[in-house]
Amino acid sequence: MKKLNFEKRGLAVLGAQWGDEGKGKIVDYLSSKVGVVARFQGGNNAGHTVVVGDQTFKMHHLPVGILYPGVKCVLGNGMVINPEVLINELEGLQQRGVDTSELRISDRAHVIMPFHRDFDSAEENFRGKQKIGTTGLGIGPAYADKAYRRGLRMIDFIDLDRFTSWLEEILPLQNAFLSKIYGLPGYKKEDLLQKFAPLGEKLSASVTDTSLFLREQLNKGEKVIFEGAQGALLDLDHGSYPYVTSSPTSTGGILTGLGVGPQSIKDVLGVVKAYTTRVGEGPFPTEEDGETGKIMREQGVEYGTTTGRPRRCGWFDGVIAGYGAGINGFTGWALTKLDVLTGFKTLKLATSYQLADEQLNHFPPLLSDLHLCKPNYLEIDGWEEDITRARKLDELPTETRNYLQAIEDVTKVPVVMVSTGPEREQTIVIRKDIP
Ligand code: IMP
Repeated sequence: MKKLNFEKRGLAVLGAQWGDEGKGKIVDYLSSKVGVVARFQGGNNAGHTVVVGDQTFKMHHLPVGILYPGVKCVLGNGMVINPEVLINELEGLQQRGVDTSELRISDRAHVIMPFHRDFDSAEENFRGKQKIGTTGLGIGPAYADKAYRRGLRMIDFIDLDRFTSWLEEILPLQNAFLSKIYGLPGYKKEDLLQKFAPLGEKLSASVTDTSLFLREQLNKGEKVIFEGAQGALLDLDHGSYPYVTSSPTSTGGILTGLGVGPQSIKDVLGVVKAYTTRVGEGPFPTEEDGETGKIMREQGVEYGTTTGRPRRCGWFDGVIAGYGAGINGFTGWALTKLDVLTGFKTLKLATSYQLADEQLNHFPPLLSDLHLCKPNYLEIDGWEEDITRARKLDELPTETRNYLQAIEDVTKVPVVMVSTGPEREQTIVIRKDIP
């Protein structure tokens, strides 16, 4: 019997904070070295920005690997997909000369319908002050319908008969929720069919069994990047619930969201910003809402790729980074936006939290506790030198290297890559065998 051979070829690239860590840049840098890049969760709530020369690309559904000719890209079964947005994204790239023919969409991925967006905004309004601060794109309601076992899968969406039957079965229920609970107008089956059936037809050639495809690729010896979206603290199970997204953003999500086995994961790279940012509501212990946060926001251009919202900014939080490392099994850090910290006289790094008399080294499950947590900071000298041209670790000032060392000491994870600017070349690779 010839043994299947998909061992240790996958590199997971996951966010370690509240999203927006710069995963796009890291995946882009690594994509030239792999055959496949696959997303396993989330939808167009993600916003991955990639700068190539004088061009900026903003990806929402598509894996960043799409920018490399010949790299095969997968939208996995764990994703929720807005067909209209995906087609616009594909056509936008095609107009800029990007070949998108290597895209494969899972037949089991779920589809976001217009009423999912309606429910997203209506539920946020209903929560009032307790709102989550979602992207408003219908992500949560689409995942909720999947869990309720009334979602629309790609395989059904691209077949006119099955799409029609699904609408006949499900639309009356959705319309009842819209009108009776939220006082909103419902949808007509004919209107949805007229708008969406052509979109399903457009996507149908790319829809396939991506779990089978990935296993074939791994078995053939292709290297694969598992591209995460959002971050550890937004994970549905492990994040700062309820201020989370509705999918598993962590390592476990790769297995269910793509249908591959654990032996396919060789390394788990945690992408972590040199400081911390957050969009949306919820506690943020190291937040700096004064001048320091403002400087970080302006120097780091911290405005959402998807919604344009200004991001809340604060110091590096070793407690959450260590927590992210624990739940994901990070084997290395890809530290991003280190250049944004240039010019601060002193840098602060949270090593633990103080909750009344108790010193916490772990992320607490109760948000009411997290609200009361005060960070215990380690203070480190900053640097003035421009680091954007450094290509090797020893080209960084001593203070910068001390800062990296402090992050390693607090989180117990080695820094294996450092990004010192948005361009592909502005990257220092410390561990050369990745991926
Ligand atoms: P949703 O994913 O739209 O349901 O939003 C839930 C929470 O996740 C909100 O706090 C959003 O701001 C946050 N979120 C979702 N996607 C991203 C992302 O790509 N970056 C940062 N935050 C995100």
